[in-house]
Amino acid sequence: MTRKHALAPAIAALIACSQACAQGEPVRFDAVGDAIPRPLTSEPGDAARGRSIVVNRDAGACTLCHAVPGEKISGNIAPALAGVGARLSPAQLRLRVADSTRVNAESPMPAYYRTEGLNQVAGAFRGKPILSAQQVEDVVAWLATLKDPR
Ligand code: HEC
Repeated sequence: MTRKHALAPAIAALIACSQACAQGEPVRFDAVGDAIPRPLTSEPGDAARGRSIVVNRDAGACTLCHAVPGEKISGNIAPALAGVGARLSPAQLRLRVADSTRVNAESPMPAYYRTEGLNQVAGAFRGKPILSAQQVEDVVAWLATLKDPR
């Protein structure tokens, strides 16, 4: 029973850290060619969380531009994401989500994980990426499952 009590503060500290640390400094990433080979986080991406980020208009809002399997309402100014997991590797997907302008300088797609060199960013978001590093990994994990071209 003493063991249980001794653990409580450690668990509280861990939870506090997982919240505070998520707000921490953005991770620096290295692009190699058209890809980011190393994941941004040590925790593997969660595909189910990734799907909800993709379709949630408050989070990724990807469906503003992309047709997404399983979603009826979407924009069509961008390539449909069906089959993207067969066309691109996870490392290539990671760079497109983090900063698509590194692949196509004219890309209208928001750079979801870039904090420098952005114009007209609202004060509260200055210096903060649109998605957290973990959210980028979650989105990449889900995109990688989209092997079927329909
Ligand atoms: C404002 C419109 C817009 C939004 C929002 C957007 N994209 Fe894109 N995306 C594009 C366009 C346009 C392209 C085509 C290549 C280019 O112009 O960069 C693209 C390309 C891609 C590609 C490469 C597709 C391929 O077949 O090569 C992926 C993957 C991708 N987007 C994922 C996402 C995800 C995930 C989100 C949400 C987190 C998102 N996009 C949000 C416009 C958008």
